[in-house]
Amino acid sequence: MNELKWWQTAVFYQIYPRSFADGNGDGIGDLEGAIARLDYLRDLGIGGIWLSPHYPSPMFDCGYDIADYAGVAPEYGTLATFKSFLDEAHARDLHVILDLVLNHTSHEHPWFLASRSSRQDPKRNWYIWRDPAPDGGPPNNWESTFGGSAWEYDEPTGQYYYHFFLKEQPDLNWRNSEVKAAMFDAVRFWLDMGVDGFRLDAIDTIFEHPDMPDHTSDYTQEALYRKAGRTRWGEDNPEILEQWHRMYQYQVLQPGIHALFQELRVLIDTYDDRILVGETSDVAYYGDGANELHMAFNFPLMRTRRMTPAWIRRNQQERLAALPEGAWPCNTLGNHDNSRVYTRYADGVYDDAIARLSLALMLTLWGTPFLYNGEEIGMTDYVIADLAQARDTPVFWYYDLYTRLFGQSAEEARRNAVLASRDKCRTPLPWANRPNGGFCPEAVAPWLPVDPNYAAGVNVADQERAPDSLLNFYRRMIHMRQATPALIAGTYVPLHEEAQDYLAFLRITGEQTCLVVLNYAAALLTLAFALPGQTADLIFSSVERAAAVDDLASLVVAPFEIYVAEVG
Ligand code: NOJ
Repeated sequence: MNELKWWQTAVFYQIYPRSFADGNGDGIGDLEGAIARLDYLRDLGIGGIWLSPHYPSPMFDCGYDIADYAGVAPEYGTLATFKSFLDEAHARDLHVILDLVLNHTSHEHPWFLASRSSRQDPKRNWYIWRDPAPDGGPPNNWESTFGGSAWEYDEPTGQYYYHFFLKEQPDLNWRNSEVKAAMFDAVRFWLDMGVDGFRLDAIDTIFEHPDMPDHTSDYTQEALYRKAGRTRWGEDNPEILEQWHRMYQYQVLQPGIHALFQELRVLIDTYDDRILVGETSDVAYYGDGANELHMAFNFPLMRTRRMTPAWIRRNQQERLAALPEGAWPCNTLGNHDNSRVYTRYADGVYDDAIARLSLALMLTLWGTPFLYNGEEIGMTDYVIADLAQARDTPVFWYYDLYTRLFGQSAEEARRNAVLASRDKCRTPLPWANRPNGGFCPEAVAPWLPVDPNYAAGVNVADQERAPDSLLNFYRRMIHMRQATPALIAGTYVPLHEEAQDYLAFLRITGEQTCLVVLNYAAALLTLAFALPGQTADLIFSSVERAAAVDDLASLVVAPFEIYVAEVG
C-alpha cells in the first residue's frame, strides 16, 4: 500500500461546477459554493476532485469552449476564489485535477479572434484554415460530430476554418509549435499554483490527417442517420459502424497524439505527483505504462443497458489483459455526457438495489473509481421538456434532424431531442428538501431546472438524516474501501465464471485476500467456494447478516446483497 500514489488509492468525484453548489444564490453553481461543500466530500471519503471546466467561456458547450486558459469564469469566481478552493481542498486531503481542453478553444478566445482577423495575422496558423473548394464550398467532405460540415466559412478573410465539435469550438493546429508552447504555459500556470493534474478532453481528435483527403464513407452524415434510423450510432449494425468509422477516419486517431502526451508527461513529471487522466478508453495512451497518461477510463464497462455479471466479467478480462505492464486501471459509470447511473441501469423494480450494486462495483474492482456529482443521492435523468430551457447546444441540431430528416412532428421531435440532449444529467444538485432543491433561492431561476424529485427524498439533507439512505450507503462503503487494502491494491481473480446471477471475485495482496460477491438477482444464493481458507470474516454487507464469520463451503447471500469478507 505504501508504494501506491495518492491517485491510485483515492476515490474521485467529478464536480460539474455549474450544477454542484451555488454560493451566491444566482442560480449558477460556483467555487464559493463548492468550497462550502468540501467538508461534505471529505466526509463522503473522497480523495480526488475532477473539476469540469471552470474557465471563462461563452458556454456554447457548457465550458468545453474555453476563452482563457489561465482564468476563471466570472460567474464561478475569480482566480483568488479558485486559489482558496484549491487550498481548502488540499487542507482536507482532497486533490484537485482540472479539465484541459486541448483540441479546440472557444471562437471567442483571443487566439482565435486574432487568427480570424486577417490572413497575415501571426496567429492565423494557430487554427486550421483552408481555401474554399473550386465551387466555393467547404475544402472537403468532413463533418462535425455535433452536426453539419466541419468547416465554417469566414466571410471577411475568404477561408474556412475547421471544427470537429461546434462551430463555436474551432480546432487548434497542433502541428504549430507555438500552439503547444502556449498550451504548455497554461499547464505550468495551474501546476505552479498547485493543482494535482488534468483530465484531458477529446484526445482522439487533436490531430487531423495533414493532407485532409475526403473521407471515403459511402454516405453523408445525414444519409447515414437516415439509414441508421434514430439510433445515433446504429450500435448493433456493423455496416453502419463501419460507415461511421470511415466518415471520421481522417479526423480522429491521427499520428502525433502519443508524441504530444510524452512531452506533456515529461512536463508534468517535473512536478511532484501530478497526473494526466485521458477522456479515452484506448489503453494505447498509457504508452509504455509510465510515459503517457496515468489513467485512461474504462468506458466500455458502462456501455450497456443492463449491468450483468457476464458483461462485467468479459469487460474485466479484456480490459486487464490489454493494459500495459505498470498501468493502473480507472473505472467509471457516469459523467456529464451520459445518462445518469441510477437511470441507466434501473429496471423499474429494484432500482435502489441496482444503484447500490453499481457503486459496489466501482469500489471493489481493481482501479481508481470516478463518481459523478449527484450519483451519491441517486439523482436520475431529468428530461427538461421545454426547449426554451435547453442549454446543451446540440439539442437544436437534434430537433432539426428529427423534423427535417425523419419527418417528425414538432412535438415528437422536441420530445426526442430533449431525450438525446445531455442536459438531463446536468441538472443542479439538490442539497435540501426546499424549493429549487435548496440549490438556490426560490425566487431565482437556476440555470437548468432542478428535478422536482428532490421533494421525494432525492436531496442531501433528507438523506443525511436517513441512516439507510443511498448517501449514507455511499459514505459507509467508500470508507470501508479506503480501510481495506486489498480492495485498493489487490490483484483481481474472478471466481465462478459461469454464474449468471452473481459476480464473485477475489482481491489479493501479500497481506490480505478479500472475497467479493455481488448478487445481481432477486434470489437468495447458497454458494460454495473452494479456497485455501475455510471461513470468511465479514468486512461489509449491504444487509444484516446472521454471523460475522461464514463457512465458505456454504455461504448464504441475500437478494442483491453486496458481500465483502476477508478469507484465509
Ligand atoms: C468531451 C466533453 O466531455 C464533452 O462534454 C464536450 O462536449 C466535448 N468533449 C467537446 O469538448
